[in-house]
Amino acid sequence: MTQPLRFILVGLGTMGSVWCRQTVPYLTGSLGAEFTAAVDPNEASHRHAIEAGLSPDSCYTDLRSALQQHNADFVISVVPPALHEGIVDLALEFGCDILSEKPIADTLEASCRIFHKVTAAGRKMAVTMSHRFDQDKQTLERLIHSGKYGAVDSIIGRFSADFRRFASWGKFRHEMEYPLLVEGAIHHFDILRSLAGSNPKTLYAKSWKADWGQYSGDSNTMVICEMENGVKTFFEGSKTSAATTNSWSQEYFRAECDKATLELSRREVTARSSLGFPYPELEVIPLAKQTVWTNTWLAELFVDWLRGGSIPPNSLEDNLQCTAMVFAAIESARTGKEIHVPSFLHEYLAAAAE
Ligand SMILES: NC(=O)c1ccc[n+]([C@@H]2O[C@H](COP(=O)([O-])OP(=O)(O)OC[C@H]3O[C@@H](n4cnc5c(N)ncnc54)[C@H](O)[C@@H]3O)[C@@H](O)[C@H]2O)c1
Repeated sequence: MTQPLRFILVGLGTMGSVWCRQTVPYLTGSLGAEFTAAVDPNEASHRHAIEAGLSPDSCYTDLRSALQQHNADFVISVVPPALHEGIVDLALEFGCDILSEKPIADTLEASCRIFHKVTAAGRKMAVTMSHRFDQDKQTLERLIHSGKYGAVDSIIGRFSADFRRFASWGKFRHEMEYPLLVEGAIHHFDILRSLAGSNPKTLYAKSWKADWGQYSGDSNTMVICEMENGVKTFFEGSKTSAATTNSWSQEYFRAECDKATLELSRREVTARSSLGFPYPELEVIPLAKQTVWTNTWLAELFVDWLRGGSIPPNSLEDNLQCTAMVFAAIESARTGKEIHVPSFLHEYLAAAAE
């Protein structure tokens, strides 16, 4: 019998507690992995891991101690973005693979360094882009790529919600420079890439803070991006709307295809066409079905990869593309210029390799 894969969960805050409730039980149950330790400097948060079945003796306040005491196969990193690189460094030092919460890191420099370090160490790393792998987004993605409605011309996306009040979107996001782009829009950029079936080519962005938003950095954005396959995309994001219309898991995406307009709005997917039979005037598309979605599905794909299965769609290498899109948007917003994303990423990767 093969040994179960052993993992350490690092970070038991808002999202770490969600991992403990939703994904850890699936990892230890259906996937047969072993929850060997958990880490958070805030001891009060250890209860989340204990409630998920971990012994209090296996809860630590620093990762090095946990790695020294437990022979782990992989680390799940659920700490704020500025701390991701330190977790990766320690995981690699102890020969562990890494499943990390998005984004790869808080800067493109750090993201590229992580890419080189993981590659040089010959380890596996994937990034949990929960929203792209949610049921509603996957239904739209599969519908577009079924080819039933012809080629895609353009795709529009919207996130719009009231998170104006300080700490209403988690304190650290109200204190960072580009919270919407780094912590939010990275999900929507990843969704646009997957719907378009292509990586970004050229991008132009505006980024700002609405007067009434209690943020140090930019809470709003508008981004136009043309993908390498010619699909044009537009994204509007606001964390300071007076009313919440398209918040997390309720976003709006519309794909203009040759034969139909495909729309995802607050978890309902429709196809509309005025071209007549066989194209529907209005059809509500049933949501795709499978056992698990979001991070739980991504944990399953990651474990399968470690056991010799195929590389998952949210691998570190793939994720570098939407990370590049985020930082290209910041660069465009700062300079007022359109950014050629492949050259931009290439420049940062080369600098990080020196
Ligand atoms: N996919 C999603 O939908 C989603 C949603 C929310 C957050 N996230 C991501 O999850 C990560 C964490 O975000 P959050 O909202 O849970 O933040 P949080 O601030 O609520 O929690 C972070 C936790 O990390 C702990 N921590 C700090 N330094 C640590 C260290 N060196 N070792 C171990 N633990 C440490 C803190 O004590 C805290 O408990 C971020 O990367 C964020 O982008 C993803």
